[in-house]
Parts: sequence; C-alpha cells; structure tokens
Amino acid sequence: MTDQLTVIVLAAGGGTRMKSKTPKVLHRIAGRSMIEHVLVAVGALEPARVVTVVGHQRELVAPHVSEARPEAVLAVQDEQLGTGHAVRMALEALPDAPREGTVLVAYGDTPLLEGTTLVEFTASHRAAGAAVSILSGIVDDPFGYGRIVRDEAGVVQAIVEEKDASDAERAITEINSGILAFDAAFLLDAIGRIGNANAKGEYYLTDAIGLAREAGLTVAAHAVDDALQTEGANDRAQLADLGRELNRRIVTRWMREGVTVMDPATTWIDADVVLAPDVTILPGVQLLGATVVAEDAVVGPDTTLEDCEIGAGARVVRTHGQLAVIGAGATVGPFAYLRPGTLLGAKGKIGTFVETKNASIGDGAKVPHLSYVGDAEIGAGSNIGAGTIFANYDGVNKHRTVVGRQAKTGSNNTFVAPVVIGDGASTGGGTVVRRDVPAGALAVSTSPQRNLEGWVLSRRAGTAQAEAAAAAAGPAVADATGEQSENGPGLGDDRAERAES
Ligand code: UD1
Ligand code: CA
Repeated sequence: MTDQLTVIVLAAGGGTRMKSKTPKVLHRIAGRSMIEHVLVAVGALEPARVVTVVGHQRELVAPHVSEARPEAVLAVQDEQLGTGHAVRMALEALPDAPREGTVLVAYGDTPLLEGTTLVEFTASHRAAGAAVSILSGIVDDPFGYGRIVRDEAGVVQAIVEEKDASDAERAITEINSGILAFDAAFLLDAIGRIGNANAKGEYYLTDAIGLAREAGLTVAAHAVDDALQTEGANDRAQLADLGRELNRRIVTRWMREGVTVMDPATTWIDADVVLAPDVTILPGVQLLGATVVAEDAVVGPDTTLEDCEIGAGARVVRTHGQLAVIGAGATVGPFAYLRPGTLLGAKGKIGTFVETKNASIGDGAKVPHLSYVGDAEIGAGSNIGAGTIFANYDGVNKHRTVVGRQAKTGSNNTFVAPVVIGDGASTGGGTVVRRDVPAGALAVSTSPQRNLEGWVLSRRAGTAQAEAAAAAAGPAVADATGEQSENGPGLGDDRAERAES
C-alpha cells in the first residue's frame, strides 16, 4: 500500500497577459479548461485529498473547480504573496493537515500535464525517500524559471529564482517545472519557516529545498523528458500553441487506436471524445465535448459535432450537430443542422439543407431535402417530402407533430402542430396539415388547379415565353404572337389569377 497522498493545485494567480475577463485557468483547450486538464491528470494519482488554492477571480474559479471535482477542498489566498504562501493557505484550509505521507504541488495552468507523469514522479519521490522531489527539466531558454543549483558532487542544493540568481546561476539550464513532491511532515515544518526576504518580496515555495538541505535531508530531482507537459499558457498565443499541440497528441493517439484521420492538421478532437476503431475522419472536422463515434462511421468533410453520438457505419457529411444521436447506418447531410434532441434511427436519413430539433426520426425514416423538423416524432420507414416545415411554434407556445410509420408525405407541406399524421397516411404536394390525418388517408388542402388557356399569348405577347407557347400550339396561333390583346379567350384580368394562388 502506498502512503496517503494530498495534492495541492495552485490557481490563485492573476493572468493579466490573457487580457481577459475570464480567469486564466478557465481558458479552454480540447474541450476542457486548463485547470480541468490538471485535475484530470491529478485524478490518476487517486489522491486522498485535492486542495485547490483560489484567489484572483475566485468567484469564477471556485465554482468551476467544484463542478469539475466536487470533492476538492477550496483554499482561499486573498493576496498572492507567493507559492510558499499559497501552499500554507492550502494546508491551513484542511481541518487536519497531513502529518504523514506525500504532498504533491502542481499548478492549474499546465493543460498538457499527464497522469502517468505524475504517477511516475510520485513513485520515484517515494522510492528516493526524499524530503522534497523536484520534477525538473532541461530547457534551451531557462529565462523565468527557478534554476536547480547542484554542488560539485551533483547533489541538489537549492532552487534559485530568476530575479535572485547570479549570472552564473542564470546560465543553468536545469529548471524547476513547478511540480514538487514533499514528505508531508517535512513540508508542515518547513512551510512556516519560509520567509520573503528576496528580490520579489514573495514567499517562495522553492525555498523549501534549501531548508531541506540545511537539515541534511534528501532532495531529489526527476527530469521530465516531455517539457511541454509542465508548460503554462500565459497569453492567448501560448494557449493556441498548447491547444494545437494537445490536439496533435489526441489525434495521434486515436490514429494509433485504429482511427483513419485523413488530415490531422484540420481535425480537432476534444479530450473527452471517444472513437471506435475504423472510424474515418475526413478533413475539416471538429469532434467536441462528449461526442462518441462508433466503428465504420465516416465523418466529414467540414463537420462539427458537439456532444453527439454517431452510430456504427453512419455517414455524416458537412454537418453541424449538437446533442444529436445518429443511428447505425444512417446518413446525414450534406449541409444538415442537427440541434439538441435530434434522434435519428438506424438507416434513417437527414438530408440536404435540413434542420432538426427535438425530433425523433425512426428507423429507416427519411427527411431528404430542405426541411425544418422541430418538436416532432416520425415513425419508422416514413418519408417526408422535400421542403416540409414542421410548424411547431404558434408565436407563444411550441407544439409537437407526430407522423406515424410508413407515412409518405408530399413536397412543400406544412404540418401545423399540434397535429398527428397516422400510420401509412399520405399527403398531397403543398398540403397544409392543420387537422389530424387518419391512418391510411390521403390529405390534400390545396384548391383544385384551374388552367387559363391561352393566357400567356394574350398577356405576355411578344415575349420569348409567348413565342414558345405559340410554337407549341401550332402555326395558326403562332401568327398571333405579335398582337397585343387586352383579354384573351376566357380570361379575366390577372387579379383573378392572383386570387387563385
Ligand atoms: C514558479 C517557481 C519556479 C518555477 C516556475 C515554473 C516559485 C517561487 N517559483 O515561478 O521555480 O520554475 O514556477 O513555472 O515557486 N500562485 C498562487 N499564489 C501565489 C503565487 C502563485 O496561487 O501567491 C500560482 C500561480 O497562479 C501559478 C503558480 O502558482 O499557477 C506559479 O506562480 P508564478 O508566479 O507563475 O511562479 P513563477 O514565478 O513562474
Ligand atoms: Ca509561471
């Protein structure tokens, strides 16, 4: 059994370089805030307790942390007096500060941090029996970092912060990533002894290393090879860089799991998305939130799916979807807009220029063209004609339309909800369905068509249209095309025509 582990996540600092009303640690990449990424990584340690130190804009940060990790203890640091002070606030927030075991300190703004790195680091800290362990790194440009100072024998003596470093110390490229592991009893004792007599006038947590050495205790440093894991995003440019890198890692991981990604550079996959083997993703696709795609489905090109579930073998082309569930073997798009509550059954179809919302479309049912389907239920095997509007909103309330199974409705229909179209029913083209249609019935609501013979020749004489009409009617009529006439045979004025439509 391993000893008890307490994790402290520091997130009280400002983040002015973000130039944002949103606190730095709440900025998002890959579908999670930066601090959520850290809390997820920390979760791999299965810690007994997690304490998050909040300060700057804590009215926003604290609720976010509580939502992401309800069991996390929140410690408040009103003034950001340094990392040492922040850790003291964390320990004081605990009803019983840990007197044994390990305390791990991490920052809330390192979104690429991985659980495995923390697990390995904590294990080596324990194995070394160290009072303090530093997750260290070797970097080309160590500017801004605390430098790891070793003696001739290579034993770590101290961490010296940028502003306090001598020229010789500034040349050191071995740095403190910021992640430290402590023996709890040592930390509890050392934290009260850290002062702020330094260039920044801050309580440096890193002074604990010097205190450990003075007491003759072991300090260990473990290098992280993947320096980006401990890199923080301080401005939007760094946020985008880390976002792109995290996405590259996520996309690579899915390709290794058997997903075909035609263009990794234009494919964006959030951290919580789940893909099955043999999914194919075409260029220009964003899979966001809790989206799940089953095997053999093909998504893209140019598709955004947020919190969607795509069934096995489904095909989703040039679509924008949110909170939609698409059945196995179904087809969607091109140019479909799936709004929340869309459920498409197996082998169903939501076609081109179709918008759906709160609509359940049964197995094999099809809405192929140019339609709005809102607050609706469409039974299995039904076909909705092109250009159909489910008129769900009366200006005050929303109502439902129910279409039974194996119904075939005509083009350019309007279903004025609430209305029910029975199983196996049909509707004529242009029908406005205001009353329920019984099973098996044909509903028509348009008035009979009246043809006004010769109308074009009489009212549009001299036009190419009239010429075509005359040619179709034969030589006798063709002679008359040049003549203007007020009223053709059997014609009223065109007010009559307008009244027809
Ligand atoms: C710190 C380390 C440095 C390390 C570097 C890695 C110290 C004294 N220095 O320096 O050795 O190389 O991180 O990035 O620890 N925070 C609080 N409250 C505070 C101060 C900071 O919560 O009072 C939080 C910040 O929000 C941030 C983190 O602690 O997430 C680090 O603080 P920052 O001021 O950026 O420390 P650095 O000067 O970068
Ligand atoms: Ca920093």
